[in-house]
Amino acid sequence: MKIVVIGTGYVGLVSGTCFSEMGNKVICVDNNIEKIENLKNGILPIFEPGLEPLVLKNVERGTLKFTTNLEAALSDSEIVFIAVGTPMGDDGSADLQYVLNVAQSIGKLMQKRLIIVDKSTVPVGTADKVKATIQKELDKRGVAIEFDMISNPEFLKEGAAINDFMKPDRVVIGAENEKALEKMKQLYAPFCMSYERIIAMDIRSAEMTKYAANAMLATKISFMNEIANICEKVGADANQVRIGIGSDNRIGYGFIYPGCGYGGSCFPKDVKALKKIAEDYNYNAKLITSVEEVNDAQKLVIAQKIVKKYGADLTGKVFAIWGLAFKPGTDDMREAPAIYIINELVKRGAKIQAYDPKAMEEAKMCYLKGVENVDYVTYKYDALKNADAMLLLTEWKEFRSPDFEEIKKQLKSPVIFDGRNQYNIFNLEEKGFEYYQIGRAE
Ligand code: UGA
Repeated sequence: MKIVVIGTGYVGLVSGTCFSEMGNKVICVDNNIEKIENLKNGILPIFEPGLEPLVLKNVERGTLKFTTNLEAALSDSEIVFIAVGTPMGDDGSADLQYVLNVAQSIGKLMQKRLIIVDKSTVPVGTADKVKATIQKELDKRGVAIEFDMISNPEFLKEGAAINDFMKPDRVVIGAENEKALEKMKQLYAPFCMSYERIIAMDIRSAEMTKYAANAMLATKISFMNEIANICEKVGADANQVRIGIGSDNRIGYGFIYPGCGYGGSCFPKDVKALKKIAEDYNYNAKLITSVEEVNDAQKLVIAQKIVKKYGADLTGKVFAIWGLAFKPGTDDMREAPAIYIINELVKRGAKIQAYDPKAMEEAKMCYLKGVENVDYVTYKYDALKNADAMLLLTEWKEFRSPDFEEIKKQLKSPVIFDGRNQYNIFNLEEKGFEYYQIGRAE
Protein backbone atom coordinates (compact mmCIF):
# COMPACT_ATOMS: atom_id res chain seq x y z
CA MET A 1 0.00 0.00 0.00
CA LYS A 2 1.04 3.59 -0.47
CA ILE A 3 1.26 5.38 2.82
CA VAL A 4 2.10 8.88 3.98
CA VAL A 5 3.07 9.45 7.60
CA ILE A 6 3.02 13.07 8.73
CA GLY A 7 5.32 13.77 11.66
CA THR A 8 8.69 12.05 12.08
CA GLY A 9 8.69 12.02 15.87
CA TYR A 10 8.74 8.86 17.88
CA VAL A 11 5.40 7.43 16.75
CA GLY A 12 5.59 8.58 13.14
CA LEU A 13 9.10 7.37 12.52
CA VAL A 14 8.58 3.97 14.12
CA SER A 15 5.22 3.43 12.39
CA GLY A 16 6.45 4.58 8.98
CA THR A 17 9.57 2.45 9.20
CA CYS A 18 7.68 -0.67 10.28
CA PHE A 19 5.07 -0.26 7.55
CA SER A 20 7.89 0.01 5.01
CA GLU A 21 9.59 -3.04 6.48
CA MET A 22 6.42 -4.99 5.59
CA GLY A 23 6.81 -3.93 1.96
CA ASN A 24 4.49 -0.92 1.86
CA LYS A 25 5.69 2.22 0.10
CA VAL A 26 6.01 4.85 2.79
CA ILE A 27 6.72 8.56 2.58
CA CYS A 28 7.44 10.28 5.91
CA VAL A 29 6.74 14.00 5.89
CA ASP A 30 7.93 16.62 8.33
CA ASN A 31 8.16 20.41 8.10
CA ASN A 32 11.53 20.39 9.88
CA ILE A 33 13.99 20.56 6.98
CA GLU A 34 17.03 19.68 9.07
CA LYS A 35 15.34 16.61 10.50
CA ILE A 36 14.36 15.40 7.04
CA GLU A 37 17.84 16.02 5.62
CA ASN A 38 19.34 14.10 8.54
CA LEU A 39 16.92 11.21 8.08
CA LYS A 40 17.77 11.03 4.39
CA ASN A 41 21.39 10.66 5.49
CA GLY A 42 20.51 7.99 8.03
CA ILE A 43 20.79 10.29 11.08
CA LEU A 44 17.87 9.62 13.44
CA PRO A 45 16.40 12.23 15.82
CA ILE A 46 15.82 9.65 18.57
CA PHE A 47 17.49 6.56 19.96
CA GLU A 48 15.33 3.47 19.76
CA PRO A 49 16.85 -0.02 19.73
CA GLY A 50 16.65 -1.62 16.29
CA LEU A 51 15.21 1.42 14.52
CA GLU A 52 18.33 2.70 12.75
CA PRO A 53 19.12 -0.46 10.75
CA LEU A 54 15.48 -0.71 9.66
CA VAL A 55 15.47 2.90 8.48
CA LEU A 56 18.73 2.44 6.57
CA LYS A 57 17.58 -0.81 4.98
CA ASN A 58 14.24 0.54 3.80
CA VAL A 59 15.66 3.83 2.55
CA GLU A 60 18.15 1.84 0.53
CA ARG A 61 15.56 -0.46 -1.03
CA GLY A 62 13.31 2.49 -1.77
CA THR A 63 10.34 1.55 0.44
CA LEU A 64 10.94 4.44 2.85
CA LYS A 65 11.33 8.06 1.76
CA PHE A 66 11.60 11.34 3.64
CA THR A 67 10.36 14.68 2.40
CA THR A 68 9.10 18.11 3.41
CA ASN A 69 6.82 18.21 0.37
CA LEU A 70 3.39 17.18 1.64
CA GLU A 71 1.64 17.97 -1.64
CA ALA A 72 3.77 15.57 -3.67
CA ALA A 73 3.53 12.92 -0.95
CA LEU A 74 -0.27 13.10 -0.84
CA SER A 75 -0.56 12.80 -4.61
CA ASP A 76 0.98 9.34 -4.41
CA SER A 77 -0.81 7.81 -1.43
CA GLU A 78 -3.92 5.96 -0.29
CA ILE A 79 -3.61 6.20 3.50
CA VAL A 80 -2.38 9.23 5.43
CA PHE A 81 -1.32 8.92 9.05
CA ILE A 82 -1.28 11.99 11.25
CA ALA A 83 1.42 11.37 13.84
CA VAL A 84 2.40 14.82 15.02
CA GLY A 85 2.86 15.77 18.65
CA THR A 86 0.09 16.69 21.06
CA PRO A 87 2.11 18.41 23.79
CA MET A 88 0.58 19.32 27.10
CA GLY A 89 -1.08 22.73 27.08
CA ASP A 90 -0.89 25.08 30.07
CA ASP A 91 -4.14 23.72 31.50
CA GLY A 92 -3.08 20.06 31.16
CA SER A 93 -5.13 19.43 28.02
CA ALA A 94 -3.57 18.06 24.85
CA ASP A 95 -2.58 20.90 22.54
CA LEU A 96 -4.17 20.13 19.16
CA GLN A 97 -2.63 22.92 17.10
CA TYR A 98 -0.22 20.63 15.23
CA VAL A 99 -2.87 18.02 14.48
CA LEU A 100 -5.33 20.63 13.20
CA ASN A 101 -2.65 22.43 11.17
CA VAL A 102 -1.89 19.15 9.43
CA ALA A 103 -5.63 18.60 8.83
CA GLN A 104 -5.82 22.03 7.26
CA SER A 105 -2.86 21.30 4.97
CA ILE A 106 -4.39 17.98 3.92
CA GLY A 107 -7.66 19.74 3.08
CA LYS A 108 -5.79 22.32 1.04
CA LEU A 109 -3.65 19.85 -0.87
CA MET A 110 -5.52 16.56 -1.36
CA GLN A 111 -6.52 15.77 -4.93
CA LYS A 112 -8.16 12.37 -4.54
CA ARG A 113 -10.00 10.20 -2.01
CA LEU A 114 -7.82 9.34 0.98
CA ILE A 115 -8.10 7.48 4.25
CA ILE A 116 -7.03 9.88 7.01
CA VAL A 117 -5.78 8.11 10.10
CA ASP A 118 -5.23 9.82 13.41
CA LYS A 119 -2.37 8.12 15.24
CA SER A 120 -1.50 10.95 17.61
CA THR A 121 -2.92 10.65 21.13
CA VAL A 122 -5.83 13.04 21.04
CA PRO A 123 -8.85 13.85 23.20
CA VAL A 124 -12.13 12.14 22.45
CA GLY A 125 -13.86 14.03 19.66
CA THR A 126 -10.69 15.12 17.86
CA ALA A 127 -11.38 12.97 14.79
CA ASP A 128 -14.57 14.99 14.30
CA LYS A 129 -12.54 18.19 14.50
CA VAL A 130 -9.96 16.88 12.02
CA LYS A 131 -12.76 15.86 9.68
CA ALA A 132 -14.46 19.25 9.95
CA THR A 133 -11.15 21.06 9.37
CA ILE A 134 -10.40 19.07 6.22
CA GLN A 135 -13.97 19.50 4.95
CA LYS A 136 -13.81 23.25 5.52
CA GLU A 137 -10.71 23.51 3.32
CA LEU A 138 -12.28 21.36 0.62
CA ASP A 139 -15.39 23.56 0.68
CA LYS A 140 -13.21 26.67 0.39
CA ARG A 141 -11.62 25.13 -2.69
CA GLY A 142 -15.07 24.26 -4.00
CA VAL A 143 -14.07 20.63 -4.64
CA ALA A 144 -16.01 17.52 -3.72
CA ILE A 145 -13.38 14.97 -2.68
CA GLU A 146 -14.52 12.30 -0.26
CA PHE A 147 -12.30 11.00 2.54
CA ASP A 148 -12.57 8.46 5.36
CA MET A 149 -11.64 9.19 8.94
CA ILE A 150 -9.98 6.57 11.15
CA SER A 151 -8.68 6.63 14.72
CA ASN A 152 -5.79 4.23 15.22
CA PRO A 153 -4.08 4.92 18.55
CA GLU A 154 -0.60 3.54 19.13
CA PHE A 155 0.50 1.45 22.07
CA LEU A 156 4.28 1.41 21.61
CA LYS A 157 6.62 1.31 24.56
CA GLU A 158 9.84 3.28 24.22
CA GLY A 159 12.79 0.93 24.11
CA ALA A 160 10.61 -1.89 22.73
CA ALA A 161 8.79 0.05 20.02
CA ILE A 162 9.87 -2.01 17.02
CA ASN A 163 8.81 -5.27 18.60
CA ASP A 164 5.56 -3.72 19.83
CA PHE A 165 4.78 -2.49 16.33
CA MET A 166 5.81 -5.65 14.50
CA LYS A 167 4.03 -7.96 16.95
CA PRO A 168 1.26 -5.96 18.58
CA ASP A 169 -0.95 -7.28 21.38
CA ARG A 170 -3.77 -5.54 19.60
CA VAL A 171 -4.45 -2.99 16.92
CA VAL A 172 -7.35 -0.69 17.70
CA ILE A 173 -9.14 0.77 14.70
CA GLY A 174 -11.95 3.24 15.12
CA ALA A 175 -13.82 3.58 11.84
CA GLU A 176 -17.05 4.94 10.48
CA ASN A 177 -17.42 2.76 7.41
CA GLU A 178 -16.69 -0.82 6.42
CA LYS A 179 -14.66 -0.06 3.33
CA ALA A 180 -12.03 2.03 5.13
CA LEU A 181 -11.99 -0.45 7.99
CA GLU A 182 -11.32 -3.31 5.58
CA LYS A 183 -8.39 -1.43 4.06
CA MET A 184 -6.92 -0.80 7.52
CA LYS A 185 -7.34 -4.47 8.40
CA GLN A 186 -5.45 -5.43 5.27
CA LEU A 187 -2.66 -3.02 6.19
CA TYR A 188 -2.29 -4.46 9.68
CA ALA A 189 -2.98 -8.14 8.93
CA PRO A 190 0.71 -8.97 8.25
CA PHE A 191 1.62 -7.64 11.72
CA CYS A 192 -1.04 -9.65 13.52
CA MET A 193 -0.82 -13.39 13.92
CA SER A 194 -4.57 -13.50 13.91
CA TYR A 195 -7.32 -11.17 12.81
CA GLU A 196 -8.64 -11.27 16.39
CA ARG A 197 -5.85 -8.93 17.39
CA ILE A 198 -7.44 -6.25 15.23
CA ILE A 199 -10.16 -4.66 17.31
CA ALA A 200 -12.64 -2.55 15.37
CA MET A 201 -14.85 -0.04 17.11
CA ASP A 202 -16.36 3.40 16.72
CA ILE A 203 -14.01 6.37 16.53
CA ARG A 204 -14.72 7.92 19.93
CA SER A 205 -14.24 4.58 21.68
CA ALA A 206 -10.90 4.14 19.91
CA GLU A 207 -9.79 7.60 21.05
CA MET A 208 -10.89 6.80 24.60
CA THR A 209 -9.21 3.36 24.55
CA LYS A 210 -5.81 5.01 24.32
CA TYR A 211 -6.37 7.16 27.39
CA ALA A 212 -8.03 4.35 29.31
CA ALA A 213 -5.10 2.00 28.62
CA ASN A 214 -2.45 4.46 29.77
CA ALA A 215 -4.49 5.60 32.77
CA MET A 216 -5.08 1.97 33.81
CA LEU A 217 -1.34 1.21 33.65
CA ALA A 218 -0.49 4.42 35.52
CA THR A 219 -3.13 3.50 38.10
CA LYS A 220 -1.53 0.10 38.66
CA ILE A 221 1.84 1.76 39.27
CA SER A 222 0.49 4.44 41.60
CA PHE A 223 -1.57 1.84 43.44
CA MET A 224 1.51 -0.29 43.98
CA ASN A 225 3.58 2.71 45.04
CA GLU A 226 0.92 3.56 47.59
CA ILE A 227 0.91 -0.04 48.85
CA ALA A 228 4.73 0.14 49.03
CA ASN A 229 4.55 3.29 51.15
CA ILE A 230 2.09 1.58 53.49
CA CYS A 231 4.33 -1.52 53.58
CA GLU A 232 7.18 0.65 54.86
CA LYS A 233 5.00 1.92 57.69
CA VAL A 234 3.63 -1.44 58.78
CA GLY A 235 6.84 -3.42 58.39
CA ALA A 236 5.83 -5.45 55.32
CA ASP A 237 7.90 -5.95 52.17
CA ALA A 238 6.33 -4.63 48.94
CA ASN A 239 8.44 -7.01 46.84
CA GLN A 240 6.84 -10.00 48.47
CA VAL A 241 3.41 -8.39 48.37
CA ARG A 242 3.88 -7.74 44.63
CA ILE A 243 4.50 -11.41 43.96
CA GLY A 244 1.66 -12.32 46.28
CA ILE A 245 -0.91 -10.25 44.42
CA GLY A 246 0.52 -10.64 40.90
CA SER A 247 0.00 -14.40 41.07
CA ASP A 248 -3.74 -13.74 40.89
CA ASN A 249 -4.19 -13.59 37.13
CA ARG A 250 -6.99 -11.08 37.50
CA ILE A 251 -4.30 -8.72 38.80
CA GLY A 252 -1.25 -9.94 36.90
CA TYR A 253 2.44 -9.25 37.42
CA GLY A 254 2.74 -6.41 34.90
CA PHE A 255 3.06 -2.78 35.99
CA ILE A 256 3.00 -3.42 39.71
CA TYR A 257 6.68 -2.79 40.31
CA PRO A 258 7.00 -0.13 42.98
CA GLY A 259 9.65 2.49 42.29
CA CYS A 260 10.42 6.18 42.23
CA GLY A 261 7.41 6.98 40.08
CA TYR A 262 6.43 6.73 36.45
CA GLY A 263 7.83 9.21 33.94
CA GLY A 264 8.08 9.55 30.18
CA SER A 265 6.16 11.41 27.58
CA CYS A 266 3.00 9.36 27.85
CA PHE A 267 1.66 8.46 31.29
CA PRO A 268 2.13 11.89 32.90
CA LYS A 269 0.72 13.72 29.87
CA ASP A 270 -2.16 11.33 29.19
CA VAL A 271 -3.28 11.06 32.82
CA LYS A 272 -3.40 14.85 32.99
CA ALA A 273 -5.21 15.10 29.67
CA LEU A 274 -7.80 12.50 30.69
CA LYS A 275 -8.46 14.45 33.87
CA LYS A 276 -8.97 17.56 31.75
CA ILE A 277 -11.24 15.76 29.27
CA ALA A 278 -13.44 14.63 32.18
CA GLU A 279 -13.43 18.16 33.59
CA ASP A 280 -14.53 19.55 30.23
CA TYR A 281 -17.55 17.27 30.48
CA ASN A 282 -18.20 18.33 34.11
CA TYR A 283 -16.97 15.08 35.57
CA ASN A 284 -14.59 15.11 38.50
CA ALA A 285 -12.22 12.18 37.84
CA LYS A 286 -11.16 11.57 41.44
CA LEU A 287 -9.26 8.34 40.92
CA ILE A 288 -7.28 9.70 37.97
CA THR A 289 -6.46 12.83 39.99
CA SER A 290 -5.13 10.69 42.83
CA VAL A 291 -3.04 8.57 40.45
CA GLU A 292 -1.26 11.76 39.43
CA GLU A 293 -0.88 13.05 42.98
CA VAL A 294 0.54 9.75 44.23
CA ASN A 295 3.05 9.77 41.37
CA ASP A 296 4.16 13.35 41.96
CA ALA A 297 4.84 12.50 45.59
CA GLN A 298 6.55 9.21 44.70
CA LYS A 299 9.18 10.99 42.64
CA LEU A 300 10.48 12.51 45.86
CA VAL A 301 10.41 9.42 48.09
CA ILE A 302 14.12 8.71 47.56
CA ALA A 303 15.02 12.33 48.37
CA GLN A 304 12.95 12.03 51.55
CA LYS A 305 14.82 8.90 52.59
CA ILE A 306 18.07 10.79 52.06
CA VAL A 307 16.88 13.74 54.14
CA LYS A 308 15.77 11.33 56.87
CA LYS A 309 19.27 9.86 57.00
CA TYR A 310 21.46 12.92 56.50
CA GLY A 311 19.22 15.80 57.60
CA ALA A 312 17.61 18.59 55.57
CA ASP A 313 20.89 20.38 54.86
CA LEU A 314 22.92 18.30 52.42
CA THR A 315 25.79 20.75 52.03
CA GLY A 316 29.05 18.89 51.48
CA LYS A 317 27.31 15.60 50.63
CA VAL A 318 28.01 13.89 47.33
CA PHE A 319 25.56 11.48 45.71
CA ALA A 320 26.35 9.10 42.88
CA ILE A 321 23.45 8.55 40.50
CA TRP A 322 23.15 5.56 38.20
CA GLY A 323 20.44 6.16 35.66
CA LEU A 324 18.83 9.38 34.42
CA ALA A 325 16.43 8.25 31.67
CA PHE A 326 12.79 7.71 32.70
CA LYS A 327 13.27 4.02 31.98
CA PRO A 328 15.93 1.73 30.48
CA GLY A 329 16.45 1.45 26.74
CA THR A 330 15.88 5.10 25.93
CA ASP A 331 17.65 8.45 26.07
CA ASP A 332 14.30 10.06 26.94
CA MET A 333 14.38 12.20 30.06
CA ARG A 334 10.85 13.60 29.88
CA GLU A 335 9.30 13.64 33.37
CA ALA A 336 12.09 11.34 34.59
CA PRO A 337 12.15 10.93 38.40
CA ALA A 338 15.90 11.71 38.23
CA ILE A 339 15.12 15.33 37.30
CA TYR A 340 13.03 15.82 40.44
CA ILE A 341 15.38 13.94 42.75
CA ILE A 342 18.50 15.72 41.49
CA ASN A 343 16.88 19.16 41.73
CA GLU A 344 15.74 18.41 45.28
CA LEU A 345 19.17 17.20 46.41
CA VAL A 346 21.05 20.07 44.74
CA LYS A 347 18.61 22.58 46.25
CA ARG A 348 19.62 21.21 49.65
CA GLY A 349 23.31 21.76 48.91
CA ALA A 350 24.38 18.32 47.65
CA LYS A 351 26.70 17.59 44.76
CA ILE A 352 25.77 14.97 42.15
CA GLN A 353 27.97 12.61 40.12
CA ALA A 354 25.79 11.07 37.45
CA TYR A 355 26.06 8.32 34.89
CA ASP A 356 23.55 7.05 32.32
CA PRO A 357 24.36 4.88 29.30
CA LYS A 358 22.28 7.00 26.89
CA ALA A 359 20.61 10.01 28.48
CA MET A 360 23.52 12.19 29.63
CA GLU A 361 23.41 14.47 26.60
CA GLU A 362 19.67 15.00 27.04
CA ALA A 363 20.24 15.76 30.70
CA LYS A 364 23.09 18.19 30.08
CA MET A 365 21.59 19.99 27.13
CA CYS A 366 18.00 20.15 28.26
CA TYR A 367 16.42 18.60 31.35
CA LEU A 368 19.15 19.46 33.85
CA LYS A 369 20.59 22.36 31.88
CA GLY A 370 21.70 25.08 34.24
CA VAL A 371 21.41 22.89 37.33
CA GLU A 372 24.65 23.49 39.20
CA ASN A 373 26.76 20.90 40.99
CA VAL A 374 25.96 18.04 38.65
CA ASP A 375 28.96 16.24 37.11
CA TYR A 376 28.58 13.63 34.40
CA VAL A 377 31.02 10.74 34.08
CA THR A 378 31.62 8.37 31.22
CA TYR A 379 32.42 5.30 33.29
CA LYS A 380 29.80 4.18 35.77
CA TYR A 381 32.12 3.33 38.66
CA ASP A 382 33.67 6.82 38.41
CA ALA A 383 30.34 8.27 39.54
CA LEU A 384 30.85 6.54 42.88
CA LYS A 385 34.24 8.03 43.71
CA ASN A 386 34.12 9.53 47.21
CA ALA A 387 30.35 9.73 47.15
CA ASP A 388 28.40 9.44 50.40
CA ALA A 389 25.86 7.13 48.78
CA MET A 390 24.78 5.65 45.49
CA LEU A 391 21.27 6.07 44.05
CA LEU A 392 19.94 3.65 41.42
CA LEU A 393 17.22 5.49 39.50
CA THR A 394 16.92 3.64 36.16
CA GLU A 395 17.23 -0.13 35.94
CA TRP A 396 19.47 -0.35 32.87
CA LYS A 397 20.69 -3.92 32.31
CA GLU A 398 24.30 -2.87 32.90
CA PHE A 399 23.35 -1.81 36.45
CA ARG A 400 21.49 -4.96 37.39
CA SER A 401 24.35 -7.16 38.53
CA PRO A 402 27.22 -4.80 39.31
CA ASP A 403 30.50 -5.50 41.08
CA PHE A 404 29.45 -4.67 44.64
CA GLU A 405 33.03 -4.91 45.92
CA GLU A 406 34.01 -2.22 43.41
CA ILE A 407 31.02 -0.10 44.46
CA LYS A 408 32.09 -0.41 48.07
CA LYS A 409 35.68 0.44 47.22
CA GLN A 410 34.70 3.62 45.39
CA LEU A 411 32.05 4.96 47.75
CA LYS A 412 33.05 6.98 50.81
CA SER A 413 30.56 4.89 52.78
CA PRO A 414 28.68 1.81 51.56
CA VAL A 415 25.16 3.19 51.26
CA ILE A 416 22.75 2.41 48.42
CA PHE A 417 19.33 3.96 47.77
CA ASP A 418 17.63 1.70 45.27
CA GLY A 419 14.78 3.50 43.51
CA ARG A 420 13.94 0.42 41.43
CA ASN A 421 14.32 -2.41 43.95
CA GLN A 422 16.90 -4.08 41.73
CA TYR A 423 19.34 -5.18 44.40
CA ASN A 424 17.06 -6.72 46.99
CA ILE A 425 18.04 -10.22 45.88
CA PHE A 426 21.72 -9.67 46.64
CA ASN A 427 21.63 -9.61 50.48
CA LEU A 428 23.44 -6.30 50.48
CA GLU A 429 23.27 -5.93 54.25
CA GLU A 430 25.33 -9.12 54.54
CA LYS A 431 27.81 -7.61 52.10
CA GLY A 432 28.22 -4.67 54.47
CA PHE A 433 25.95 -2.15 52.77
CA GLU A 434 23.35 0.09 54.27
CA TYR A 435 20.55 -0.61 51.80
CA TYR A 436 17.39 1.43 51.24
CA GLN A 437 14.66 0.42 48.83
CA ILE A 438 11.07 1.26 47.99
CA GLY A 439 8.43 -0.48 50.06
CA ARG A 440 10.48 -2.12 52.78
CA ALA A 441 10.95 -0.71 56.24
CA GLU A 442 14.56 0.22 57.04
C1 UGA B 1 3.66 3.74 27.76
C2 UGA B 1 2.77 2.50 27.58
O1 UGA B 1 3.33 1.40 28.28
C3 UGA B 1 2.59 2.18 26.10
O2 UGA B 1 1.70 1.10 25.96
C4 UGA B 1 2.04 3.42 25.38
O3 UGA B 1 1.89 3.20 24.00
C5 UGA B 1 2.99 4.58 25.60
O4 UGA B 1 3.11 4.83 27.01
C6 UGA B 1 2.42 5.77 24.86
O5 UGA B 1 1.33 6.23 25.23
O6 UGA B 1 3.00 6.19 23.86
P1 UGA B 1 6.29 4.17 27.80
O7 UGA B 1 5.96 5.55 28.29
O8 UGA B 1 7.27 4.02 26.69
O9 UGA B 1 4.96 3.42 27.31
O10 UGA B 1 6.89 3.40 29.04
P2 UGA B 1 6.51 2.22 30.04
O11 UGA B 1 7.38 1.06 29.78
O12 UGA B 1 5.06 1.97 30.04
O13 UGA B 1 6.96 2.87 31.43
C7 UGA B 1 6.40 4.09 31.89
C8 UGA B 1 6.91 4.43 33.27
O14 UGA B 1 6.35 3.58 34.25
C9 UGA B 1 8.43 4.31 33.45
O15 UGA B 1 8.90 5.43 34.14
C10 UGA B 1 8.60 3.05 34.28
O16 UGA B 1 9.76 3.07 35.06
C11 UGA B 1 7.35 3.10 35.12
N1 UGA B 1 6.92 1.78 35.65
C12 UGA B 1 6.50 0.81 34.79
C13 UGA B 1 6.92 1.55 37.02
O17 UGA B 1 7.30 2.43 37.83
N2 UGA B 1 6.49 0.33 37.49
C14 UGA B 1 6.07 -0.64 36.67
O18 UGA B 1 5.68 -1.73 37.18
C15 UGA B 1 6.08 -0.41 35.29
